[in-house]
Parts: sequence; C-alpha cells; structure tokens
Amino acid sequence: MKARKITPLITFGVMSMVFFLVSGWVSAAQDGKPSPNHAWKDGAEIYAKICAYCHDVQVGPPILNRELSPDYIRHMVRNGNRAMPAFRPSEIDDESLAKLAEFISHRSTQP
Ligand code: HEC
Repeated sequence: MKARKITPLITFGVMSMVFFLVSGWVSAAQDGKPSPNHAWKDGAEIYAKICAYCHDVQVGPPILNRELSPDYIRHMVRNGNRAMPAFRPSEIDDESLAKLAEFISHRSTQP
C-alpha cells in the first residue's frame, strides 16, 4: 500500500533530476566553444573570444605586435601546428578569418 503511494513521487523526483542534469550539460556544452556558423562581429571579437584564451596567457606565443603576415595567420588557424588547434570554416568562416588576420596583423602597426 505505502510503496504504491510514493512510487509516483520517486518517479517524478528522478525525472526532474534527469531533466536538471541534461539541461546543465547542454548549457555547459554551449559555453566556451565557438558555436557553429556564429556570425562574428569583427577580428577583435574573435581574438578576444578564441585566440586570447591561449595567446594572451603564454599557452601559445604572443601573436599581436609581431608583424606576422595575414597569410601566415590564416594558414595557422586553418591547419594548426602541434598544440595550436585548427579551426574549421564552421567555427570561423573565411570572411571572419580574413578580418581576424587583418586585425592581428594591423595591431603590429597600431599597438
Ligand atoms: C588551445 C590554445 C590555442 C588557441 C585557442 C589558439 N592558439 Fe594559436 N597557438 C597555440 C600554440 C600552443 C602555438 C604554438 C604552436 C607551436 O609552434 O608548437 C600557437 C601558434 C600560433 C601561431 C604561430 C605563432 C608563431 O610564433 O609563429 C599563430 C599565428 C596562431 N597560433 C594564431 C592563432 C589564432 C589567430 C587563434 C584564434 C583563432 C589561435 N591561434 C588560437 C595555441 C592556441
């Protein structure tokens, strides 16, 4: 008798816990990763949100103010190099990558 009455409560409790966990995972997965086909505002935004994560904290070498050519920067971003990850067009589209490379390169003349 008693068990029958609390079973729906347990079921409800378990279900809401599962829902809570799953929604937590989903939002955690959305944070920190560039979302596919995100429209970037400009090179500065991409640098701040993706590259600075490593390049402003000595995980990667500093890349601003080094007169790196935009072609070289684009090549590194698309292909990666050892610990430098490669980024696909779904993460940084070609147009945004061109802006980003210009931004990083441009910073060499305007600190
Ligand atoms: C997960 C960390 C990480 C992220 C994020 C990252 N990089 Fe790097 N990057 C590295 C590391 C580490 C290296 C050094 C690779 C090596 O030479 O072994 C590197 C090297 C480079 C180089 C070559 C520098 C040189 O001295 O020749 C360029 C250019 C570069 N990254 C651009 C970028 C850009 C642009 C972004 C943002 C889209 C970016 N990186 C994001 C880790 C990262």
